[in-house]
Amino acid sequence: MKKSEKKTIPSGFLAMIVLCIFVAGISAILVSGHKINVRQQNAVDSKKIADNTSSYDSVSGLSSDAISPNAFEDSNNLPEGYKTISVLNEDVNKGQLILVNYQYESKIDGENLVNLYDNISSSVGVKDDDMFINNAVLKPMNKMFDDFKEAKGDTSILISSSYRSKADQTKIYEESVKHTGEKSTAYYVAVPGYSEHQTGYCFDTAAYNYDGEMIELDGEGIYSWLIDNCKNYGFILRYPDDKTNITGIGYEGWHFRYVGVPHSFAIMDNKICLEEYILGLQKYTFEDGPLLIDKGDKGKWLVYYVPKLEAFNNTDVPVPVDSEKCSYTISGNNIGGFIVTVNVTKDPENSLLAKAKTSWSCDNSSLIIKDFEDYDPEKYIFVDTSTDTEDDWQSDTYWDDSEDGNSEYDDYYEDYYYDNEYEEDSYYDEDY
Ligand code: DAL
Ligand code: ZN
Repeated sequence: MKKSEKKTIPSGFLAMIVLCIFVAGISAILVSGHKINVRQQNAVDSKKIADNTSSYDSVSGLSSDAISPNAFEDSNNLPEGYKTISVLNEDVNKGQLILVNYQYESKIDGENLVNLYDNISSSVGVKDDDMFINNAVLKPMNKMFDDFKEAKGDTSILISSSYRSKADQTKIYEESVKHTGEKSTAYYVAVPGYSEHQTGYCFDTAAYNYDGEMIELDGEGIYSWLIDNCKNYGFILRYPDDKTNITGIGYEGWHFRYVGVPHSFAIMDNKICLEEYILGLQKYTFEDGPLLIDKGDKGKWLVYYVPKLEAFNNTDVPVPVDSEKCSYTISGNNIGGFIVTVNVTKDPENSLLAKAKTSWSCDNSSLIIKDFEDYDPEKYIFVDTSTDTEDDWQSDTYWDDSEDGNSEYDDYYEDYYYDNEYEEDSYYDEDY
């Protein structure tokens, strides 16, 4: 009897234990909830990258309760004059430095678009009234064409393409395959979803020839001014002829991409392509030392890469405390991190300058696409009949006899690639 009495726990005691566990549980939930709320309230400086990265136009709260640990919580870890702000990881796919190519898909569909027809300078024409471009591109683009007009006295340039939706790109891609074949298409038209045009940060230039046909510019004659000067306005020639084995795209003298100053200087002055720049920048970190872009009277900038913190929704990004003295921008790179650009023109004593690397270096050997190693446009510019049946081929009337005795394809080839004869046609003559 005594034995069983020993084993019996009084019911009052049991009730006490249950009550304690209940109270402890509720407290834990309340406390952790409170912590989350506190972090969310503290995260008022969590930034959402505005599409126009020259300024932040929105401040957002955290989208989830997964908070990144603050790598720089101890302010001693940060150089003088720097703090961190929390940036949403999803913004890694946004901003004017995103790399979109055969490997990296565009995760955005033309944000902050403005109508070109309504906003473009009279110094340049547009092909249609329903063309759009990212708002950040408009002002420098207008300035560039105004200056081109002043320098060359010419207003013949037309913007033939700017933002393209994935559906637009699909149409262009399919038409190109039909008319020029798969191999030629692969060198000049990005696979839908992987076109930079989908970002809204680029445009193509064209002009009418004597026959009233619109043809893309190849950067020759007076139009070479654009290639020589685009960097002053934040633009780059996106597909240079000596980088085809990295970009995977043939030379396009007509396609300009906005990356903003000073990146346009770094890319054009160092004769590198966007792939080399964005991938190479990954070794210019805040901790190991930023890249210094020193353009003398034009300004001085520090550029560094901050990888996004995987497994969290936010990344702490170091930025200058005094944004009046040192304005800064943050852009995603579309390949896993953020690029911070700090204007130190007015701050020669900036603490990060001591670590800065003054010259660009990048081993591009790993960026070479093997398939494009022996790239030779002549080799690939042909009509690939493999996708057409004989009937399609006939109905395309590709080999019809036009007045000049050339096949339709020959005409296309001639117009598109500007052979020597065409250039001698004085179309590209400076006096034209
Ligand atoms: N022509 C460029 C590569 C595009 O299709 O996006
Ligand atoms: Zn283009």
